[in-house]
Amino acid sequence: MQKKLGVLLFLLGTIISVSAQKFENLALTPPMGWNSWNTFGTDINEALVMGIADAMVHDGYRDAGYSYLVLDDGWMARERDSLGNLVPDPAKFPNGLKHLIDYVHSKGLKFGLYNCAGSKTCAGYPGSRGHEYQDARLYASLGVDYLKYDWCNTGKINAEEAYITMRDALFAAQHPVVFSICEWGDNQPWNWAKDVGHLWRTTGDIAPCWNCEENHGSWSSWGVLRIVDMRKGIRKVAGPGHWNDPDMMEIGNGMSTSEDRAHFSLWAMMAAPLILGNDIRSATTATKEILTNREVIAVDQDALGVQGNPFWRQEDLEIWAKPLQGGDWAICFLNRGDTDLHLKHDWQAHPISDDISKNWENFKSAVFQIRDLWKQQTIGSTSVVLEAVVPPHDVLMLRLIKSK
Ligand code: GLA
Repeated sequence: MQKKLGVLLFLLGTIISVSAQKFENLALTPPMGWNSWNTFGTDINEALVMGIADAMVHDGYRDAGYSYLVLDDGWMARERDSLGNLVPDPAKFPNGLKHLIDYVHSKGLKFGLYNCAGSKTCAGYPGSRGHEYQDARLYASLGVDYLKYDWCNTGKINAEEAYITMRDALFAAQHPVVFSICEWGDNQPWNWAKDVGHLWRTTGDIAPCWNCEENHGSWSSWGVLRIVDMRKGIRKVAGPGHWNDPDMMEIGNGMSTSEDRAHFSLWAMMAAPLILGNDIRSATTATKEILTNREVIAVDQDALGVQGNPFWRQEDLEIWAKPLQGGDWAICFLNRGDTDLHLKHDWQAHPISDDISKNWENFKSAVFQIRDLWKQQTIGSTSVVLEAVVPPHDVLMLRLIKSK
């Protein structure tokens, strides 16, 4: 009898542990896509989504790797229906969501939605609290491939538990979903979210500025450099399938070309999810060229999946390194300051090492070819001192290519 009970408990345990998981193998490299929030807020509709889907294909974003089109807050009607189901706002989405999602899928893209663990979303629409399984079944029936799950109006609920509940609800609904945790780093998700979501926000909201704080009263949004400087010491928890998320990008939203270039380079160095936050339908050529630079994207998407970090700082110069698969390295010289930086970099005087991959280089036993990823040119080798001028708020981003 006891033996039978043991077997039963074992089977039960197996079933529970199988059912309680996130979808694996969905984000082996940082997710790439577009999200409506940074530019449009809640002012979203069917024509916008179709136009963005068209631009993602037409302007080469999809082929550069941006695959998810995500609708953020504001897609819902103010109330659930009489059965408790979420309803898309009929004025914004007169043909419903299925029609729209089918359109997005027909373009070879994936589709994502936003909701919130609280009773209401941050913009006051119905949240998922108490409706997690019902909402997950709705998303599955619509073919939703990505869920950004926010943290407003959550009262005293426990973050880890709330995100696990939604993870389990998505898994039970059986349609693979990338689960994007968005609680701004308040509950240290890097300590518990690895098996819960595929990416988790590490900070409050980003703002389209270099080094500013925008104070909104009870909360602030932050410029690019502020976000980069927050949350030191969490790079070890990032890796294939689970990424630190420093927020969606603000490239094309008003910063200078130098700042946009630095922003993109740093997100790539950090192995951050690359989520476009601009109106790509009207992007300038300069913006488009930044966002579709495949050599920089390759640094972000490198299969080794190590988050790079700064290893050297002297006044306004910060030097970042990210080990890449096969022994290459990405190196980024960031000029944080407001004047030109005249760089003279002796490789042998700056050995690099990474405590995650255990890769290291002292540039004495090996010589690397140097590829300038923004000029897209080979510019010499590590056997000579590198001389360059880095403009203010800009970068020199390099790939060191190991001789085979
Ligand atoms: C929070 C998130 C943002 C966005 C808004 C929507 O502030 O951090 O990214 O989703 O909510 O209301």
